[in-house]
Order: sequence, then C-alpha cells, then structure tokens
Amino acid sequence: MKINGTPYRSIWRDAASDAVQIIDQRWLPHELRIVPLRNLNDFATAIRDMWVRGAPLIGATAAWGMAEEMARDPSDTNLNATWDVLHDTRPTAINLRWALDAMRATLAPLPPAKRADAARAKAEAICDEDVEINRRIGENGLALLRDIAARKGGGRVNVLTHCNAGWLATVDWGTATSPIYHAVEAGIDMHVFVDETRPRNQGALLTAWEMNSHRVSHDLIVDNAGGHLMQHGEVDIVIVGTDRTTARGDVCNKIGTYLKALAAKANDVPFYVALPSPTIDWTVRDGLREIPIEERSGREVTHVQGRGPDGRVVDVQISPDGTGARNPAFDVTPAELVTGLITERGICAATPKGMSALFPEYATAA
Ligand code: MRU
Repeated sequence: MKINGTPYRSIWRDAASDAVQIIDQRWLPHELRIVPLRNLNDFATAIRDMWVRGAPLIGATAAWGMAEEMARDPSDTNLNATWDVLHDTRPTAINLRWALDAMRATLAPLPPAKRADAARAKAEAICDEDVEINRRIGENGLALLRDIAARKGGGRVNVLTHCNAGWLATVDWGTATSPIYHAVEAGIDMHVFVDETRPRNQGALLTAWEMNSHRVSHDLIVDNAGGHLMQHGEVDIVIVGTDRTTARGDVCNKIGTYLKALAAKANDVPFYVALPSPTIDWTVRDGLREIPIEERSGREVTHVQGRGPDGRVVDVQISPDGTGARNPAFDVTPAELVTGLITERGICAATPKGMSALFPEYATAA
C-alpha cells in the first residue's frame, strides 16, 4: 500500500543497504521509522518486542531472519538453532511456525554452501505469496461487501474491525482490510468502525493510520462501543483477522474479539474472519484448550502510550501504584459464533467440512 503516494511493503530486503528493512511499528502513527534488521538478535527482538506484529508479518520476519542467518552460518546446527530462537519469540500466531517450517523444509536437503541464496529466495517467495493471498482474500471478501451494498440500495456499508489486521500486519493489503480496500477501489461507499483495541491500541494507532492514509471513511471507537452500535443497526458486518484458526474453525485473535463475536451473534450481525491458509493450524481442533495464549506484561494495561505536548512518544500511568494487572493478549472465538471464513480460495463455513472442502489436501488431518 502507499505512504504519501509511495508504495511500501511492511518488510523488504534492500540491496543498497544490504539489509532487511522494516517499518518499526512502535512509533506509528506519530513517526514513520524504517530500520534495518541485520542479525538474529535484531530479528528476534523485532518480533518479541513488537516492532513488527500481526500473524503473517511475524512469519515473514522470521523467514527473513532465518535467511540472513544462513548467509552467516549455513550449518545444520545453526539452521536448527535459528529455528528455535525465532520460534520462541511469540507463542500464539501459527504463521511463525509455518514460515520457519517452510524455510527449514527448503534448506535442510541442500548442502550448506547452497543455503544462503536459497534461503533469500524462499523468504522473498513467502513474502510474495503473502501479498497474493491477501489480494485474493480482498477479492473474495469484496463479493460480500457488494451484496450488502446492493441490499442497502447502494447505501453505505459499515464494517467493524478489531485490532490491526491491515497491511501493517501482513506484507501487503492486510487480511481483514483487504476486502475494504478492494471495495473502496470498486466505488462502494464504505465506512469502518475501528476498535481502539486496548491494551496496545493497535486499532487506534495502526488501523486508524492505515484508514487515514488511504482516505477510507472511519471512526475510532472504544472497545466497549461495538455492542451498542450493533444494537442500533449501525454495523452491517464484522471482519477481523486471526492469529491461529483450528481445523474445526475456532478462531484465535486479539483479546476482545470473542466479545465482538458474542455481540454480533446477539444482534444478527454477520461475523467474518479473514483467514490466509498459513494461519490455519490443521494439527489443532479445540482452540480453547489447545492454543497457547500469550500473556504480556501488565505494564501494557497499567499504562497507555501517547504523544506528549513536546511531540515525544511517552507512556502514561493510568492506574494506582501497586495495582496488579493481567494481560492475556488473545482470545478464542468458538466456531459456532463465526459466520464464515474469507480465505484466498473462497469463503467457507467455519466447520471441518467447510474448511476441508476448500483445502482438500488437509482433509484427512482435519
Ligand atoms: O499482538 P499483535 O498485534 O501481533 O496481534 C495482531 C492480531 O491479533 C491480528 O488481528 C492478527 O494477527 C491478524 S493479522 C492479519
């Protein structure tokens, strides 16, 4: 997508600096900082400390981390050690393991001398594939938004989204936002309700920035407002992303997604999940019991980040000294609450049957 008219991806390898470059998302929307990642520690830190975040981008960053590390030491020992270091950075998004497994499957059969070039080519291919998957999710989701627009006689289509499942969370396009961008391009009158998404406010900081940059009509809302808007008929459809979806359609996504799904069910609002296939964990069925949920620092709850009057980004404490905090970063929405999954191969029910019809190669695993 574009920043001030210039096309960007969220991660790329830059020949001039001979390094992988990322948008350091900790500073958005206040500052656009592009930083190089040069060694394994840089890549692991960038994922763990959320300079980059969002399931597909976490996977892409890990792929590039392994590629750069193979240029330094392509031995079997280092291949496996790198897999371990990068895999241990964040526990919930399955794209991390998917990308690392894809890299290792490509590299392990090769003699070490051939691994560096092959690793860079594979990381590039993973990024290109992510872009294409998200473009197709956009085309498939566009059909849903067109139907709603037609039902409303060309009236405005109101989407509610949670967290940032935008292009910053992927290599490009985003998952939940791709249908929105496609609909805007197709001339559909779109409006997006952006959940702020406490505690880290990915909605307020990142999704709102994306919507602003691409001139998509939007309102930022507090996380507690979605149910009220649904009760009053102001939301036509909810579209969210996911960090891991199980073989039976349970959807793990940013904390608070489950409450939006409950409110959507209670108000007959369709609840869709934009789902790239690398985000499906075919080895897991019961999302509630089998997906590891990341617990992050309580400081993210007791403090909020903002820009001070002098322009500097600061953390402000909002709770009394001594108050403890719990900070589960994700929750699981049971498949029964999900109207459908928008994938790169089409839209399906969040059921083993629906999913394996679109992805028959995994049918036995499901
Ligand atoms: O903690 P984050 O910011 O990595 O969480 C991101 C999300 O929960 C996104 O909704 C999810 O990764 C889907 S991104 C296409």
